[in-house]
Amino acid sequence: MNSFVTGRRLARELGEWRSAAPAYRALAERIRVLLLDGRLSSGAKLPAERELSQALDLSRTTVAAAYSKLRDDGFLESVRGSGSTLQLPGRIRGEHALHHGLALDFTKATAPAYPGIQNAFAAALEELPTYLGHDGFDLVGLPDLREAIAQNYRDRGLPTSPDQIMVTIGAQHGLNLITRTLYSPGERILVEQPTYPHALDTFAAVGARVIAFPVRQDGGWDLPEALLQIRRAAPTLAYLMPDFHNPTGMSMSIHEREYLAAAAAREGTVLVVDETTALLDIDRGPMPPMAAFSSNILTLGSLGKIAWGGLRVGWIRGSREILAQLLRNRPGVDLGTPLVEQLVAAKLIQDMPSMMASRSLDLRRGRDTAIKLLREQLPQWQVQVPDGGLCLWINTETVSSSALALAARSEGMGLVPGPRFGIDGAFERYLRLPFSYSDEQLHDGIAILGRISGEVGSDPLRMPLQAVI
Ligand SMILES: Cc1ncc(COP(=O)(O)O)c(C=O)c1O
Repeated sequence: MNSFVTGRRLARELGEWRSAAPAYRALAERIRVLLLDGRLSSGAKLPAERELSQALDLSRTTVAAAYSKLRDDGFLESVRGSGSTLQLPGRIRGEHALHHGLALDFTKATAPAYPGIQNAFAAALEELPTYLGHDGFDLVGLPDLREAIAQNYRDRGLPTSPDQIMVTIGAQHGLNLITRTLYSPGERILVEQPTYPHALDTFAAVGARVIAFPVRQDGGWDLPEALLQIRRAAPTLAYLMPDFHNPTGMSMSIHEREYLAAAAAREGTVLVVDETTALLDIDRGPMPPMAAFSSNILTLGSLGKIAWGGLRVGWIRGSREILAQLLRNRPGVDLGTPLVEQLVAAKLIQDMPSMMASRSLDLRRGRDTAIKLLREQLPQWQVQVPDGGLCLWINTETVSSSALALAARSEGMGLVPGPRFGIDGAFERYLRLPFSYSDEQLHDGIAILGRISGEVGSDPLRMPLQAVI
């Protein structure tokens, strides 16, 4: 693409670009972020130095120095007579580049597809003709799939019938549907701090007033604070991840489950328990699902992490009454879960023990490799060894994770800085590092972190926060 960026447009895109750094560096840095974020495209022509200096009310020398820095770093090419063109340096454009031009994309805590996926699709296609007489709009889910999901809860010790299950287009869709159905303007929603960023996005989309209580790696769920918040603010919903919490990897004890379930039931707060990561056990062992402790709980499940993100099948487990409410509201959100994917999901769920065993092996390898490399290369960083899930939640103590994420981007590595997981800018010194990658990717990624961590200061950077899974 070869577009021309005017001085006024660039000034608008730059927003508040000044920082503690000298102006030319801050300007170059900000232009680089816009390019890496895709808001300015590779191939776009930047305004002439004079035009930009007028638009920003800056000296032309400063703009020239910023352009020169971008050129030195490989982000800009200037040809006399035809201006300056943005470009991504070779190592970012590299052959193995994934989405967003990043060779090493650690922004997603996901795992590759379970090897049985292709066979499950083949088996589903054979069954498809039986369903082609059906109109295809399915708002609750195929009976066989709902039964397979219910059976999975029974296997985990939680009596469940198929009419307590609604199949959704992933857990994120389930959360959206629950929020739009049960939340009314002005009410509050309680979350853990840190929490899953896209849950915060869902709550922000309905304008919810979000309140939080801490989950600490050294002390678990802060029960007194949670109780205080539930009593004082009477939140409509409380969103929790009791198993292999994303991002800390922690699990609630039985006492914590019982306590929070009882507190919420007493105050009439509906607990939304996200079990998207609950089946990613490495060496913890089974725990009772939180819904075993109260009927006032909606549980979100998904095949996204255990089988494959590309499947987009999840579910909600809840009381028949709440499911009926969700069903009435669903057509305003979507018109049902795709049928072929449901057939595939029904096959895969029957294969749950081998999916879990295969994930567990892979996650153990990734976790142990990442821990070993971090201890060798960044021994000053504090990291606890999780017994499941997909990520490490690292306390860097001194490093600004937003500055680290920006520096990593120039090396072709995507990272999500800590504040994306909190409210009010918390966790600036924390970093979520997924370990669900190959040993080679972990080696390369942690080598980059080792290299750049010394160059990065402790001041937070005001940068747009990225999508994260
Ligand atoms: C905690 C948590 N909840 C929900 C989701 C979204 O799940 P799904 O892909 O099923 O929509 C994710 C996926 O990244 C997640 O980590």
